[in-house]
Amino acid sequence: MVFNRVQNLYHIGRAKWYDPFKGLWNIIVGEKSEKALLQFLKENLKESGNILDMGCGTGLNLQTIIKLDLPFRCYRGLDFSDNMLDIARQKFSGKTNIQFEKRDLTDLSNMNEKFDIIICTWVISHLPDPVFFVNQAQKFLNKNGKMFLVFFGKPQKWINFWLEPLAKYLFMSKPIENDKITQFKNVTNRHLYAFGITDCLEIKMPI
Ligand SMILES: C[S@@+](CC[C@H](N)C(=O)[O-])C[C@H]1O[C@@H](n2cnc3c(N)ncnc32)[C@H](O)[C@@H]1O
Repeated sequence: MVFNRVQNLYHIGRAKWYDPFKGLWNIIVGEKSEKALLQFLKENLKESGNILDMGCGTGLNLQTIIKLDLPFRCYRGLDFSDNMLDIARQKFSGKTNIQFEKRDLTDLSNMNEKFDIIICTWVISHLPDPVFFVNQAQKFLNKNGKMFLVFFGKPQKWINFWLEPLAKYLFMSKPIENDKITQFKNVTNRHLYAFGITDCLEIKMPI
């Protein structure tokens, strides 16, 4: 795998600082999306269910699930950053139902397993083709399975004017435009927070 600019962003030093940075990020723009994610997890996680966390980073979503003692059978986190995965693995070492795997989300061609719940938070604005990714990811959902996405949306013009270049420069991230979001299949719920900077989507596979 070629070491690309996004991997570089999450390399050594920055991976170490990711958790405190995310805490700050949540205070500024992510508080409501965290609540929405939590609500989704509370309503949908089951003792028998398996979870796929796409772009799991340092495993913060799993930390939340465990902290709240929410039920699940097994969890798999995928990410292409060794440094983020190392931190995640350290947090949950010794738990046999938890697995972290190095994978590039732009190439999931040899993945066959299906999941009841997929979560993907603050990842798709790093991807070159978010529409392809979101629609492809759905093939890993069981019938009736659900997916929850949080991502960097395109805010109102006066914010986007300065935020988009800043996000591109600092985070190699691009806000996802509305015309792209309308191409995501099976969306059942959408909420915008923080002037549209935070976009939350729920997807449900038809039976
Ligand atoms: C902003 S962090 C989000 C981490 C975690 N989901 C969270 O909410 O704390 C973005 C993560 O996506 C991962 N990522 C970005 N592009 C990826 C790709 N093409 N394949 C796999 N992981 C990717 C990065 O390595 C990073 O860990």
